Amino acid sequence: MSEVPQIQILDKKNYFTQALVSLPDALPLPPLKASSLRIRTVVLTISLNTVANATKSAVLSSWTVHPLPSSTPAPYNDASKYGRINSWGYGQVAESTFPGVSKDAYVYGYLPIGTLPFDITVETRPGVPGHIFATDTARQHLLATYNRYMVHPEPKLLADEIASRSPALAFETAFRIMHESAFVLNAWAYCPRPEHSVPLSGLDTSFSTKATDLTDAVVLVLAPGSKVALAFAWMLRNERHQGGANPRKIVGVASEHSVDFVKATGLYNETVLTSEENPVELLKSWGVAKDKNLVLIDFGGRGGAGVKWASALKPVYPKLGFAMIGVEVTENSTADAVKTAIGLGGVPFNFSQLRDEAIKRTGEAEYFEAVDRSLKDFMQNQIPGFEARWEEGMEAVMEGYKAFCTSSVGSNVGLVYKV
Ligand SMILES: NC(=O)c1ccc[n+]([C@@H]2O[C@H](COP(=O)([O-])OP(=O)(O)OC[C@H]3O[C@@H](n4cnc5c(N)ncnc54)[C@H](OP(=O)(O)O)[C@@H]3O)[C@@H](O)[C@H]2O)c1
Repeated sequence: MSEVPQIQILDKKNYFTQALVSLPDALPLPPLKASSLRIRTVVLTISLNTVANATKSAVLSSWTVHPLPSSTPAPYNDASKYGRINSWGYGQVAESTFPGVSKDAYVYGYLPIGTLPFDITVETRPGVPGHIFATDTARQHLLATYNRYMVHPEPKLLADEIASRSPALAFETAFRIMHESAFVLNAWAYCPRPEHSVPLSGLDTSFSTKATDLTDAVVLVLAPGSKVALAFAWMLRNERHQGGANPRKIVGVASEHSVDFVKATGLYNETVLTSEENPVELLKSWGVAKDKNLVLIDFGGRGGAGVKWASALKPVYPKLGFAMIGVEVTENSTADAVKTAIGLGGVPFNFSQLRDEAIKRTGEAEYFEAVDRSLKDFMQNQIPGFEARWEEGMEAVMEGYKAFCTSSVGSNVGLVYKV
């Protein structure tokens, strides 16, 4: 008998309210359209980035990526109140009418959280072999990143890794897209040759494109234990050329929840608490002059840390560059907090548009080769104290999401699920 699919559904106003909903009426699945793939999520990760699907839904159009299925029972079938978020990971092709990708292949990309397969119509494009693109009209308003899927070149190997709960696959799943986000930050936004840098905010030219020169800069990293920050700090140390714009000091500014882990990674020259009473005095004690390059990068620090630190530093350090990469977990929309941060000179980062621009400038194949090389190196080094942990089943996924809502997940843990 076929499994009864289960999906996570969130309250679109109170993101901490979630339900695991069974969909017996979804079966049998309808016939698959031409040139399409039916994909079932099999491996996914939950992180601050997953929760950002809800908190930043207005920017990311999150609820529209994988809408509520028509078989959703009441009361969850009300799309004005309920919706689904998405996660990065591997899906397996359950059915295919697209000649380039066969049944049982695996794709990496943006997936729904649940075991109900989803259908996309796809095409290949000149560029990188094995990359396919969703062409459904209903998805064309999304950022380009969400419509790109990468076919795994060795499905048997991946199947074995999933079956054996390979630690390397868990680490890769926890980090892959976060590593790439860090890659565009390090190589393109904070380019070692600043004259070639790509604006942090992508196509949104209303934001300042300056203050991304890291020459002799002090870089203050909020949520320094986040996966994207860890990868970024690693790249600042390992992937910048001698003679380029290199920072003087990389400082992890962590909450009390994550400070011990952050210190133990050895990636930061200094680690301080977000609750530090006087950030200006701290910088003075390091001899940071007012006209020096100072960069504050918020990867989603708890307790409004970004606004707190920017408010303290901005009046004293006029050259402060303030980048907004992440948002902390909140039960309701973060729109007001984002507005306040922008008022302090915060520039929102747009990974998808930076990736598009980097591809345009360097060539698609070259771009992905460089990302893959960097990921391989990064994975060989690992992060001291970090553990990517396998869990199984949708109930476990729900617990993982809840752990972020209750601030009870350690930064040293990457949550990876087989569903
Ligand atoms: N704009 C873009 O295009 C883009 C691209 C990639 C990633 N991002 C964003 O970057 C951020 C980091 O993503 P990630 O997947 O790397 O995150 P992650 O590993 O799950 O981040 C963990 C860190 O987030 C902070 N945090 C804030 N609220 C938390 C909570 N309730 N529970 C646990 N930790 C919390 C903690 O730092 P403290 O303990 O120091 O507070 C913690 O160390 C996300 O907001 C993501 O959306 C944005």
